[in-house]
Amino acid sequence: MSAEPLLKVRGLGVTFRTGDRVTVASQDVNFELKAGQVLAVVGESGSGKSVSAMALTRLLPPEPNCVIQGEVLLNGRDLLKLSEAELTQVRGREIAYIFQDPGTSLNPVYSIAYQIGEAIRLHRPEVTDVSAEVIHSLEAVHIKEPARVAQQYPHELSGGMQQRVMIAMALACNPKILVADEPTTALDVTIQKEIMDLLSRLRVERGMSIILITHNFGIVAHFADLVQVMRSGHIVEQGPAEQVMNQPQHPYTKGLIACIPRLGQRRRRLTTLKDELKAS
Ligand SMILES: Nc1ncnc2c1ncn2[C@@H]1O[C@H](COP(=O)(O)OP(=O)(O)O)[C@@H](O)[C@H]1O
Ligand SMILES: [Mg+2]
Repeated sequence: MSAEPLLKVRGLGVTFRTGDRVTVASQDVNFELKAGQVLAVVGESGSGKSVSAMALTRLLPPEPNCVIQGEVLLNGRDLLKLSEAELTQVRGREIAYIFQDPGTSLNPVYSIAYQIGEAIRLHRPEVTDVSAEVIHSLEAVHIKEPARVAQQYPHELSGGMQQRVMIAMALACNPKILVADEPTTALDVTIQKEIMDLLSRLRVERGMSIILITHNFGIVAHFADLVQVMRSGHIVEQGPAEQVMNQPQHPYTKGLIACIPRLGQRRRRLTTLKDELKAS
C-alpha cells in the first residue's frame, strides 16, 4: 500500500437549483483514501451521502441546475476540471459505481453477457476476447455457473444474483475505486452478508479501494478502515473506524451507534434519535 493517497477530496460541495429553490445537498467534504482502503459513509436518508459520491465524477445534473465545488484529486489529477468526454473514461474505468437496487440498474431486455460485454467494450477497448472476459468477471464474483448465468436475463435471477452481476459489471472495468451505494439494502440479511464478504475479498485480492455508503453502522465495524458520518450535508465526524466506533465524539454518531441492531434485542428506531439527543 503506497503512502500517497489515491484520492484526495477537498472542500467538495453540491448545490441544486430548481426554479427558486436552492438545496445545499453537501458541503465541505474532505477526505483522503489510499489504495486498498475502505471508507464507510454513514448517515440517515437525505444526509447527502449519494450526492457527494456521485459528485466525485460529476455524475449529477449539469450546471446551472447543479453546482459542484471543490477538488477531487485522483492520483493528483482534479476530476472536476475534466471535460465530459474525459470523465466518461474515468467513470467505470477508474471509479465504478454499484447502486442499491440492481433491478433498476440492469436493463431488462438484454442478457447478462451482453450488458457486461458492453461495459467492457466501452471502458476497455483493448480487450480482444470480450466473451471470455465476461465469464471471467462472473467467476470473479463467485458465480458458480458463469456460462449459464451469462445467457440469462435480469428477471431470471434472484436479487442477490443481480447484485453480484452488478458487481461483476463494475469489476469488469477493473476500477481503482468502487463506490458501493447501499449495495445490500434491498437484499435479505444472509445475502447481505454474502455480498459484504465478497466485497471484502475483492478488496484484498485486487487492492481495490471501496467507498461504502450505508445506513447500517453494524457493517462498518467489520469492514471499514475509515468512517465518515454525514448529517444534513455535513461531515459531523470522521476518522479510523475503530476510533469512531469505540470513542464516538459527536452525539449524532453516538445515537447512530446506539441504533445498531443486536441479536436478541429489539431494534431502536432512528426516528426517536432527535428525542434521545434532546434528553441527553
Ligand atoms: N437531482 C436532485 N435535485 C435536487 N435535489 C436533489 C437531487 N438529488 C438529491 N437531492 C437532494 O440532496 C439531498 C441529499 O440527497 P442524497 O445524497 O441522495 O442523500 P442520501 O444518499 O444521504 O440519502 C437531499 O435533500 C435530496 O433531496
Ligand atoms: Mg443515498
